[in-house]
Amino acid sequence: MKDLINIQWMENVDSTNDQAKRELENLSDLTVIAAVSQTAGRGQRGNSWLTRPGENLTFSLVVKFSEGNFGPLGAKRNFEITQAAALGVCEYLDTEGIFCKIKWPNDIYVGNRKICGMLIENSLEGGSVMSSVIGIGLNVNQEDFPPELLNPTSMRLVTGKSFSLKPELEKLCRHIQRKLMLIQSSGDSLVDEYSSRLFRLGVFNTFVDCADGVPFVGKITGVSESGRLILETQKGELKEFSFKEISFVI
Ligand code: BTN
Repeated sequence: MKDLINIQWMENVDSTNDQAKRELENLSDLTVIAAVSQTAGRGQRGNSWLTRPGENLTFSLVVKFSEGNFGPLGAKRNFEITQAAALGVCEYLDTEGIFCKIKWPNDIYVGNRKICGMLIENSLEGGSVMSSVIGIGLNVNQEDFPPELLNPTSMRLVTGKSFSLKPELEKLCRHIQRKLMLIQSSGDSLVDEYSSRLFRLGVFNTFVDCADGVPFVGKITGVSESGRLILETQKGELKEFSFKEISFVI
């Protein structure tokens, strides 16, 4: 596979996602903006992403559809971007001997601990995804974390080894690129691979209904085409949930 990704390193930025969105027009169809340090890293659900400067990977991979190496992608297929990014990270971690799972929709877990988070921001126009900014925070060399983070881990904590960030980013991006190219070839769906890699697949787990804070139990059976989580209730009914509707209890 040809290496198509152009990686730009910055010493310091507010958020690589915000930087990528500001620079979007000038970027090629597959570009990575990586930062040694972020002053306003953003996470999911409006949270901040806090990480020690120089110890971890914080970057945004920009994909422009209908340009260069990428054909058009209908807006209804936007969850395939999440699948490609999550599976690319998992495949890279596999090569480092780190066994991981995808905590729906796009956290990467080793055992019960989070090693990587993603903030994927798509821009849609006329029923198509025009571009996607895939923001990834991967804990690499950090060994201690602030107590407010519930269950973090890092590649160093899992393997006992330290890693050199720049070469690791190049390897990781190649895996994500490969998975992104697969979304383009029709019939090569990633959904089965994604579903089989889900954290706590096939076991009953407690979730919280975000509307009323009430906990309930459900068994993960997979995801729908649009990326909704399919849970089997204790009565054997199948129900679908969007990311904003429920949260996991780990
Ligand atoms: C989460 O799990 O809450 C998502 C975390 C995403 C963090 C990354 S770090 C690089 C990119 N820039 C940001 O501001 N956020 C993402």
